[in-house]
Amino acid sequence: MTQTTPSHGHGHGHAEDHQTGIAEILDLDAEVLAEHTASIVSWLPVEEGPRRIVDLGCGTGVGTFALLARFPEAQVTAVDSSVDHLRRVRQKACEAGVAERVDTVHADLDAAWPSLGRPDLVWASASLHHMADPDRTLRRVRDALTPGGLLVVVEPDGFPRFLPDHAPADRPGLEGRCHEVGDRLAAGRLPHRGADFGPMLVAAGFSVEGEHTITATVERSRSESVGRYALTGLGRIRDAVADALSAGDLAALDRLLDPDGPHSLLRRDDLAVRTRRTVWAARA
Ligand SMILES: C[S@@+](CC[C@H](N)C(=O)[O-])C[C@H]1O[C@@H](n2cnc3c(N)ncnc32)[C@H](O)[C@@H]1O
Repeated sequence: MTQTTPSHGHGHGHAEDHQTGIAEILDLDAEVLAEHTASIVSWLPVEEGPRRIVDLGCGTGVGTFALLARFPEAQVTAVDSSVDHLRRVRQKACEAGVAERVDTVHADLDAAWPSLGRPDLVWASASLHHMADPDRTLRRVRDALTPGGLLVVVEPDGFPRFLPDHAPADRPGLEGRCHEVGDRLAAGRLPHRGADFGPMLVAAGFSVEGEHTITATVERSRSESVGRYALTGLGRIRDAVADALSAGDLAALDRLLDPDGPHSLLRRDDLAVRTRRTVWAARA
């Protein structure tokens, strides 16, 4: 396993706690939706297994490990701007006995393009909408891919939902209102979240070979981690929206987020992870 780290870039020191919180959410998402990720990977239009894969904005490695499992001959280069996420990827690779098949590259993909070789498959899951200029990133990916290489873009339509619309009984629709506030606050920072990447791929010189939308609902009865995901995920949303919520909504949210309280999310049996993700498979 090789590890490439530039002398500067974002993701260091002061951001470490923040990154740890995100990492926990990425790991919970990976665990709860493992079957869906595997189904996306098995849907990919590949005839011969790719040998050199790049996972752009790999996070804690959900795509990296799903791709390693599907393509046993492949080597994956996992790229991210977070040193903490990359450390977790390396640790998981060692634990899974696949360290020889994973390289990590610490890079800010909004800055100069890092040295990533000539991949025959690039995977970008929930990462392109974080880029300052996704069109430029797509053009750089097209130039990096081998001729005929495949780019797979996976994008969620937003953060997952956990509660039914009528919950909680005293403030129905609370989660939806939290999302409305959060989306409004994030709109300037993440203008491409939920975007249709099909036309952007075509404009960057790709031909889109497949597009596929997955709607997933994982009930709490199917995975114990659903409760923890709801608590951690809604906790992060609370941090972002608290100042803009009504006092009544904020109090109700805090009752749900109190792990020991009578209204705790952890006591509810109507929780589920509900998410919609679109996948594009595009040929360079
Ligand atoms: C929502 S996470 C998705 C992680 C992973 N691909 C997944 O599907 O779980 C977005 C990832 O993109 C990374 N990221 C965001 N902006 C980046 C940039 N400019 N350069 C490199 N990585 C970036 C973040 O650090 C984070 O790990």
